[in-house]
Amino acid sequence: MDLIWSTGDDGPSAGLSDDDVRDAYPWPDHASERRWVRAMMVTTLDGAAAGPDGLSGSISSSVDKAVFHAVRRLAGAVLVGAGTVRAEGYGPLRAAEADAEVRAAAGLAPAPVLAIVSGSLELDFTGPLFAESTIRPIVITGAAPDPARAALAHEHCELVTAPEPRPSAASILSILEDRGLRRIVCEGGPTLLESLVADGLLDEADITVSPTFAGTRSTPRTAGLETVAGFELAHVLTAESFLMCRYVRSDVG
Ligand SMILES: NC(=O)c1ccc[n+]([C@@H]2O[C@H](COP(=O)([O-])OP(=O)(O)OC[C@H]3O[C@@H](n4cnc5c(N)ncnc54)[C@H](OP(=O)(O)O)[C@@H]3O)[C@@H](O)[C@H]2O)c1
Repeated sequence: MDLIWSTGDDGPSAGLSDDDVRDAYPWPDHASERRWVRAMMVTTLDGAAAGPDGLSGSISSSVDKAVFHAVRRLAGAVLVGAGTVRAEGYGPLRAAEADAEVRAAAGLAPAPVLAIVSGSLELDFTGPLFAESTIRPIVITGAAPDPARAALAHEHCELVTAPEPRPSAASILSILEDRGLRRIVCEGGPTLLESLVADGLLDEADITVSPTFAGTRSTPRTAGLETVAGFELAHVLTAESFLMCRYVRSDVG
């Protein structure tokens, strides 16, 4: 993977290793206790968030997945909406031996925690995601969840209710922060991301531009905000005609 443009960089540099890619997506220093929320998404040239099969995998690639996994390596929490978990068939988050030392030095648990936002609690609680993640996943739901679904959820995850009927972005993030989770990568989907952006709580957007067209008629809408949110380009990685772009919110960069 090549870095073709970077803030403060004099020119192109070639051949990034896995650790270089991880380091190209820095988190705030552990000691600063600054919360940092980044979005990790792939989009087609015509703005679709999924291919015709309804999955992001069909617009992704091995290099996009390498960036996706590199960013998880030093994350505290992977935040995701229930729609994405159901559509993409999310698997467990496990500790990686190679990251043990660097995670411990950054004050992180051995693996990132999966945090799922769901109102309905229609999730496969008996599947491997819940049974085999190194750290018990957190499910964030509204103030009055369905009692039967909530009872089932309690058996398999840490179920946390927000004060509102539908968890606000601020409540979601403060529930994570209360658990010491300040490095947050939100892997979508568009509905959850929209609430983070609408409330001004997204610090960074790590966007892969996939060299494909998918058609946007049946993909999730992505234009629900009244005004657009501004970000500045920090770097572009490229491989196999994919662009992996890192944008940081204009007022925090
Ligand atoms: N291109 C990419 O990088 C990328 C990334 C992720 C997903 N996707 C694609 O996006 C599609 C899914 O889109 P989506 O917008 O439905 O995904 P989503 O945001 O992951 O899921 C929406 C669901 O999450 C829950 N949710 C989200 N925000 C909530 C809130 N504030 N309070 C309570 N519940 C909340 C609700 O779950 P309940 O229904 O359980 O109440 C809601 O129905 C799939 O096709 C997936 O493949 C693409």
